[in-house]
Amino acid sequence: MNNVKAETADDNDLIAAAMEGRKRAYVPYSHFAVGAAVRTASGQIFIGGNIENAAYPLTVCAERVALFSAYAAGERHITAIAVVTPTDDVASPCGACRQVIFELATHSTVILLNLKGMRRDTTPDILLPHGFGPQQLDESKRG
Ligand code: THU
Repeated sequence: MNNVKAETADDNDLIAAAMEGRKRAYVPYSHFAVGAAVRTASGQIFIGGNIENAAYPLTVCAERVALFSAYAAGERHITAIAVVTPTDDVASPCGACRQVIFELATHSTVILLNLKGMRRDTTPDILLPHGFGPQQLDESKRG
């Protein structure tokens, strides 16, 4: 797999926060705890774990919990998001999270990790090419 590298000293605080996110996950159905952490331009870190529901589709992924926590606190500039999954290889965010990352963390670095220390850095544009965003809603550009 391209761009997979061993963890470096970079972003260790963000990665530790994403690991903590796994502990906060509520996963009675899948038992698949995902952790996420976002860094803001103001220097804060917001943590999320996936939160499941007995009505399964209402589950919210760790990435969105972390991002929404940052936005709920008034933050608007996300510089990085780290996601940890208990998978053999690093895993990519689901389609819904790609859409949300594309809009809420447009210019961020997305750091994908597993528990074995594998890491892949990517970007919202790579995860969601030709994504739908706020610019498509611009009234002056409607056909
Ligand atoms: N999940 C995440 O939290 N993030 C991902 O990137 C992929 C999937 C969650 C949703 C659900 O609680 C569990 O993992 C299994 O799909």
